[in-house]
Parts: sequence; C-alpha cells; structure tokens
Amino acid sequence: MQEKIRVGVLGATGAVGQRFVELLADHPWFELTALTASDASAGRRYGDACRWLLSSDMPPNMTDMPVRETSPTIECDLVFSALPGGLAGPVEEEFAAAGYGVFSNASAHRQDPDVPLLIPEVNPDHLSLIATQRARRGWERGFIITNPNCSAVMLTMALAPLQDVFGVRSVVVNTMQGLSGAGYPGVPSLDALDNVIPFIGGEEDKLALEPCKMLGKVRDGGVEFAGFAISAHCNRVPVREGHLETVSVALENPAELEEIPAAWRDWRPLPQQLNLPTAPRPPLVVRTEPDRPQTRLDRDAGRGMAVSVGRVRSCDVLDIRFVVLGHNTIRGAAGASVLNAELMVAQEMIDT
Ligand SMILES: NC(=O)c1ccc[n+]([C@@H]2O[C@H](COP(=O)([O-])OP(=O)(O)OC[C@H]3O[C@@H](n4cnc5c(N)ncnc54)[C@H](OP(=O)(O)O)[C@@H]3O)[C@@H](O)[C@H]2O)c1
Repeated sequence: MQEKIRVGVLGATGAVGQRFVELLADHPWFELTALTASDASAGRRYGDACRWLLSSDMPPNMTDMPVRETSPTIECDLVFSALPGGLAGPVEEEFAAAGYGVFSNASAHRQDPDVPLLIPEVNPDHLSLIATQRARRGWERGFIITNPNCSAVMLTMALAPLQDVFGVRSVVVNTMQGLSGAGYPGVPSLDALDNVIPFIGGEEDKLALEPCKMLGKVRDGGVEFAGFAISAHCNRVPVREGHLETVSVALENPAELEEIPAAWRDWRPLPQQLNLPTAPRPPLVVRTEPDRPQTRLDRDAGRGMAVSVGRVRSCDVLDIRFVVLGHNTIRGAAGASVLNAELMVAQEMIDT
C-alpha cells in the first residue's frame, strides 16, 4: 500500500473510542489524524481529556493531539464511530452525506435495510448494499457500515459454519457479559460487585435479530433474514472484559458430535484468505478441555479478535450445546470495525 488512509475516531475518549485509538495508533494501512468527543472535551489535548482505562499505555503520539468537536469538518477520509446510541444515528448520517466513510459501533443504523451489518468472516457479500445505500440516500462517496452488538458477533461467528454445513433451525443462548460492555463508568460498583444482573436494556432483542440479518441473503436492495428463531437471555456479570455465552442449537440436518468442532476448524473465511492485518488466525479457536473457554483465560485469544468455542455436547431438548466467548471491546466493538474497514480497502472499495 502506497499512502496510508487518513482516519478519525468519533467518541475517542470513551471505552470503545480508546480501543480504536489503541488499534489505530500504529496501523499499517491507516493514519489516525482526528479525534472527536463531546463539547466538554473538545479543544483539550487527548491526554488531558481522556481518562485512559486500558492496560496498554496511551500511544505517545496521541497524547498531544487536540480533541475536536464531532462535526463533519475533521481532516480524514474514514471515521470510526464510538458515539452513544441516540446521538450516533443523525451524526453518522451527517458524516456520510458529507463524503466520509463511516464505520459504526452504534446500534442506530444496524437494522436499516440498506446498511450492511457486517462481520467480514461471515457476510462480506453484504457490502454490495453500499451501492443501494448511496443511490437511495444521494450520497456520492460517503457510506455507513455497522458492526454487530458485542454479544451477537461471538454467537454469529460460531453459528456461521454450522449454518453452512448443517443448517440452523433454532437457537437458545444465555450470556454472561462483562461490565465494560456498558461503557465507562457503566454499571455502578455497588450494583455490580457480588452480583449477577439478569437484565441489559435492549440486548436480548439485538441478540435475537442481528445474527439473522448477518446470516441472511442480499435480495432486492435489502437483506432477507435467515429463517431461524433465537431465544436470548442476557446477564451482566462482575468481570471486566469478555462475553461468555452458553448456546443450544437445533440443526436442520443431523450431525455427529465430532462434526461440530470439525466444521469450526475447517472454516476458511475471506479476511484470513486476504491476510488482513487485524484478522485473527484462526478466527475460531476450538478448545478441547472440559472447562474451556473461560473468560479470563481466553478473551485475549488472537489479540482479542479470535472467538473461542468449546464444551460441545449433545442436547436432549435441541440437538447440540456449546460455549462461545469473545472480547467485547475488541472483537465485539473496535476491532470489528477496523476489520470491516480493512476488508473494504482490500477489495478496493474505498475511494480516497
Ligand atoms: N462498550 C462496548 O463493549 C460496546 C460494544 C459494542 C458497541 N458499543 C457501542 O459503542 C458506542 C460507544 O460506547 P462506549 O462504551 O465507548 O461509550 P462511552 O464510554 O460512554 O463513550 C462515549 C463517547 O462519546 C462521546 N460523547 C458523548 N456525548 C457526546 C456528544 N453529545 N457529542 C459528541 N461526543 C459525545 C464521549 O465524549 P466525552 O468523553 O467528551 O463525554 C465519549 O467519547 C455506543 O453506541 C455503544 O452502544 C459498545
């Protein structure tokens, strides 16, 4: 690649924004040239405006960078959005209308029929919706791509090879979701400590819907959703990072138990074939120990981009059961968006 593509982060001081800054500060294809946040942070040095929460140090080349207002006048070609949900909808549209490519973490546009909800390993062909999106909305260069909810990405990656090989008929999933999924400061400590909270607002609906969009087919300028139902139970647990999910699945076609991990191991998706910089190799790490994956031991697999699966058993109610785990602020948020952008660059879909 000749010149790096200039990118910005919207909401750069938040939990997901910081992950973006960490992943983009030294990226081989992208140069981070703009950071934005709320008016309270705008005008300050990033090092002063941001309370850095990651175990890595704030990248030294970012500390003096000025935080800008979140308006489509910043100097870059692509933006990664880590804005709060309500704000993200209109602001991301403003950026796209002004010609920026927008890679969003927020839920605002995930279910728009002409907006790809993308996992590069699962549905890279959904990028074809961008042509429809631009035509419908009158955008010449700009676009919006979304990545899924942080629990939906793990589940969908585990289901994709099973859908390909056996077909999926129905799914029951229980999540145990880390606290960082609620942003910073997130859940009050006196609610979180010594506790499990069996409610995360809006999460169960997202987890029931998003995998079916991603595993669906592009038809007539929209997506025909995969035709299976998902029953989701979402719980907040007192771990810092990592979402662990226990899953039961009914399959369309019968499978021997050993064929399930074989389908995961044999999966060879496009980002790994293209050798994208952020693509984990392998995308699914199959654990064979009886007590893995575990949140603390396995969330950093593949530098937080791999999804770990294991504990495959038969199910007396549906057909099979297993455990899936991923890092919610890397594979479930910032890393997912960066991989989306890498896929578009590799496919020469970015016009700078
Ligand atoms: N946390 C996760 O695991 C996760 C996973 C997937 C998706 N997401 C989604 O990613 C988005 C960001 O989540 P988060 O956890 O990073 O939230 P967060 O920690 O609360 O950060 C929010 C960011 O938005 C900025 N902001 C707030 N109000 C603003 C305004 N009026 N104008 C411009 N900027 C404003 C904040 O800047 P200030 O510092 O100046 O207030 C901060 O940089 C959300 O839509 C969330 O649903 C989160």
